[in-house]
Amino acid sequence: MKILVTGGTGYIGSHTTVELQNSGHEVIIVDNLSNSNINVLDSIEKISGIKPEFEQFDLIDTEKTTDFFKRNNDIQGIIHFAAFKAVGESVDNPLMYYRNNLFSLVNILQGMKDNNIENFVFSSSCTVYGQPEELPVTENAPIQKAASPYGNTKQISEEIIFDTVKVSGIKGMALRYFNPIGAHKSAIIGELPLGIPNNLMPFITQTVIGIREQLRVFGDDYSTPDGTAIRDYIHVVDIAKAHVIAVERMVNKKMKKDFEMFNLGTGNGYSVLEVIKSFEKVTGEKLNYKIVDRRAGDITQVWADTKFANDELGWKAEKDIDEMTLSAWNWELALKEI
Ligand code: NAD
Ligand code: WQD
Repeated sequence: MKILVTGGTGYIGSHTTVELQNSGHEVIIVDNLSNSNINVLDSIEKISGIKPEFEQFDLIDTEKTTDFFKRNNDIQGIIHFAAFKAVGESVDNPLMYYRNNLFSLVNILQGMKDNNIENFVFSSSCTVYGQPEELPVTENAPIQKAASPYGNTKQISEEIIFDTVKVSGIKGMALRYFNPIGAHKSAIIGELPLGIPNNLMPFITQTVIGIREQLRVFGDDYSTPDGTAIRDYIHVVDIAKAHVIAVERMVNKKMKKDFEMFNLGTGNGYSVLEVIKSFEKVTGEKLNYKIVDRRAGDITQVWADTKFANDELGWKAEKDIDEMTLSAWNWELALKEI
């Protein structure tokens, strides 16, 4: 199958491209390189043996996007990763987030409609659930008011897709990722955070390698067993594999509804201190950290009910927390050499 991967030189997109190629699919990437590097194409080729086709342009550019779809109307499925994703930045600059994340989506859906391209997989997020009342959280849990413009773009995007699916013949699938971490086992691709990382895992690895002085653990007074907040961390390669299954399900017309939503998590929650313990155990390194106040906007705990994805997609996350933290460390070590 010929699959368009938007944001394919980014963190999750690059891992997904490799898994699509490993499964025999042809990938064409569109990315404006606003948060990734052109060298990732060579890295993908090093792993899979195939350099994906690539076009560099901004998906908020309606003319360029329209032209792209006219030239590529044989695409069978689209996996749409391209978006801005920094929660704090979205609070400071909401219009930048609404413009980038929503205009690009509308342009793509229009291109699909005009060229009869049917299958659309969307990168959503567990952020849509906020702090759920019941854990583990299922896909039927109520969507809560978004805590940030970034989170709001995910909620609005799901609605835009849902409304479009109702009238257009387009089929949509929203994959709600929990907390993707780790890197490909080759350490040839991984996450490339620009500037100071917001997320826990890159902050840990950058601290241990000496780029940052100390990790601040945000709060140890949560109502959790060790007082630190709990998340469902999931290996990025497990996430990538789910996308291959998702797009194949769509193209092979196995969907039960025209718009489906799936949680992509492991079903296990780990506290910040447990992630640190795993990291220190598997790497033999010591992390310099201190407990500070809670971070504004953080929830106490969330982990996924994965039954629906397990049963319907026949997909299950395979990699445990130790494999996640070790691969993240190996990637940080590899980055030092670049
Ligand atoms: P990333 O920043 O590494 O990748 C996104 C890619 O999209 C980048 O290469 C960037 O250059 C590109 N891009 C952004 N805007 C674009 C535009 N207008 N036109 C063309 N290219 C554009 O991010 P990621 O971690 O790989 O995330 C991928 C998707 O998954 C995003 O939609 C993100 O919101 C979502 N998501 C990520 C996480 C996470 O923790 N990483 C969790 C849940 C959901
Ligand atoms: C994890 C835990 C922090 C950094 C974010 C987005 C979410 C989704 C995934 C895209 C929390 C703690 C972190 C640090 C810390 N992204 N922490 N010190 O906040 O769960 O989710 O990324 O959709 O939308 O909000 O991930 O990695 O930032 O934090 O103690 O320096 O680590 O408080 O408990 P989060 P995270």
